[in-house]
Amino acid sequence: DAQPILVQGPMPIEAQNFAEKLENVEEEKSGNFVFYKGTVNDYPVIVMKTGKGMENTAAATALAIEKFDPLAIINQGTSGGHDPDLHVFDIVLGKRTVNIGSLKTGSLEDGEGIAPKEWIPMDLMASEGSAGEDPDAENIRYFEGDKELLAAAKSVKNTHEKGKVVEGTIGSADVWNNEVDRIQWFHENFGTSVEEMEGAAGAQIAKAYEVPYLGIRILSNNKTNDGEYNPDTAETNQEYVYEVVKKYIASK
Ligand code: 5AD
Repeated sequence: DAQPILVQGPMPIEAQNFAEKLENVEEEKSGNFVFYKGTVNDYPVIVMKTGKGMENTAAATALAIEKFDPLAIINQGTSGGHDPDLHVFDIVLGKRTVNIGSLKTGSLEDGEGIAPKEWIPMDLMASEGSAGEDPDAENIRYFEGDKELLAAAKSVKNTHEKGKVVEGTIGSADVWNNEVDRIQWFHENFGTSVEEMEGAAGAQIAKAYEVPYLGIRILSNNKTNDGEYNPDTAETNQEYVYEVVKKYIASK
């Protein structure tokens, strides 16, 4: 049997549209997760509603890899812009994904306050030793998007008509940043194009199992250029990801 392609979406509005496109669907539940197992052009595709956030995504990814032995994983959904050149309805292909909650603070004493701009990146995958003491852990850990998935995504760029499609860096944490100076700090220091709450968690687990992985994120909001939140972007992203999946299947 062919190995399935997994398409992950955190919220119902980020999974249901794609699930409705599947043929021969069977639903399977496990914990918070729902797996919609079906086919696209006779090829097995499983849409996963993971729930929001890093923990749900990491657990769902590990579980799905063990259960379904996937060929590839696409993590997709909405995001907030960190780059003022990106607008609501633009789509970022995750050439890289990074955990922007993985940080080490400076060393300050009682009463010396809090200095978030002095915090440095922390790489939990640098070694098996203490991330607090290991100098190798003072590093940004980027997870690379899979080249074949990226190529498939780029080749169907033109099907997305409501905005542009660019390659970029997806930053993830269980944080919604609304401070423009902080957003700019991530943009400058981590090179983030957008932020969301899942991509880096799935990427870390996919890498551990050597499963090809790509994040595909549409901007639903961008505080840096007054881009107002628009939930319709979630459905538009699934329309585009559907084209990406068909293209990827055709190349197999
Ligand atoms: N910051 C963080 N997460 C965001 N999301 C959309 N926009 C943002 C943003 N500006 C996504 C997350 C999460 C849900 C809150 O929406 O990935 O699933």
